Amino acid sequence: MHANNRTPLVLTLLAVVFVGLAAAFYSDSWGYPPPRAAIPLVDKALLDTATVRRSYADLIRAKEDLSDFDCYGCHDKKQPPPLRYDENQKLIVPPEHSDVVMGHGSHGRNNNCFNCHNENNLTTLQPRDGRELKLENSTQLCGSCHGPTYRDWDSGAHGRTNGYWNTKLGPALKKDCVNCHNPHSPRFPGRKPAPGPHTLHPSDTADRAAEAESPSTH
Ligand code: HEC
Ligand code: HEC
Ligand code: HEC
Ligand code: HEC
Repeated sequence: MHANNRTPLVLTLLAVVFVGLAAAFYSDSWGYPPPRAAIPLVDKALLDTATVRRSYADLIRAKEDLSDFDCYGCHDKKQPPPLRYDENQKLIVPPEHSDVVMGHGSHGRNNNCFNCHNENNLTTLQPRDGRELKLENSTQLCGSCHGPTYRDWDSGAHGRTNGYWNTKLGPALKKDCVNCHNPHSPRFPGRKPAPGPHTLHPSDTADRAAEAESPSTH
């Protein structure tokens, strides 16, 4: 009997409380939590299948400016350009060839231009075996000194094959040595490593990205 008397009061109070809560939620009194930062996708540059360099052969295929390769636009066909050395027997590269920065090997052993270029016909390359190669066939030149690496390349263990495995769909293209190595300074430039698997914790990823940026961590 006693309880029954209080039921309408309790129900009314509850109704008032719920209506109040509904109003509070509706008017967003506490505000929403800040939206999660968008999870960054993998840097597109890391998915790019292009090689680090474009070779002479690539420039021919793309019909681009080949004036750097027009040796006899500047040189005299009748006499090979003289090689000049400083007092330490280091080759002096003339300012006209400032893009040619020699650093082939750690001992400066392969800095003589005519180890590779043919002094009697600058538009060709000449490996030690005396063959004359077109500039676009430079991989054969590299192979004449780097036999084991060339064999690895030929069998697909060194370098990269772009294109198709199924050659009915399109060509499988072996990238040339000079697509990755600068013939004059062939040491491969370091690359930023790709990020690890995503943890779905944005703050975590930001920390790791910062870590990867900072040169002191390796
Ligand atoms: C824009 C003009 C120009 C072009 C194009 C050019 N050269 Fe030269 N090159 C020069 C000049 C100038 C020198 C210095 C000549 C001298 O000292 O008598 C030189 C010097 C050289 C030397 C001697 C380098 C040294 O350290 O002493 C070589 C080798 C050479 N050139 C090769 C080539 C080859 C190979 C090509 C084509 C792929 C080429 N050059 C295209 C202007 C050019
Ligand atoms: C005339 C012989 C000769 C030719 C041709 C030649 N190399 Fe080399 N290469 C060498 C020598 C010698 C070294 C240095 C080995 C050492 O320092 O221990 C070397 C070192 C290298 C290295 C190691 C990186 C470095 O700087 O130590 C790479 C990569 C390389 N060559 C790539 C090439 C490519 C690509 C070509 C073709 C464009 C080529 N080489 C053509 C003789 C040659
Ligand atoms: C290890 C072999 C090698 C040596 C040594 C070498 N070159 Fe080259 N050089 C090449 C190859 C291969 C190419 C064509 C690269 C390509 O396809 O991109 C080339 C391209 C060039 C070009 C045209 C493209 C450019 O970068 O301007 C010039 C000019 C040139 N070399 C000058 C020289 C001179 C000068 C020297 C000596 C100081 C020299 N090279 C030493 C292999 C060599
Ligand atoms: C797809 C790119 C690519 C191509 C194509 C390529 N290389 Fe390399 N090469 C590399 C990389 C990356 C390294 C390792 C560099 C490092 O460890 O710092 C390397 C290392 C080398 C070295 C150093 C010694 C060694 O074996 O560790 C030589 C020499 C060399 N390459 C020669 C060649 C020759 C010759 C060719 C062509 C027949 C060629 N490369 C084609 C990317 C390439």
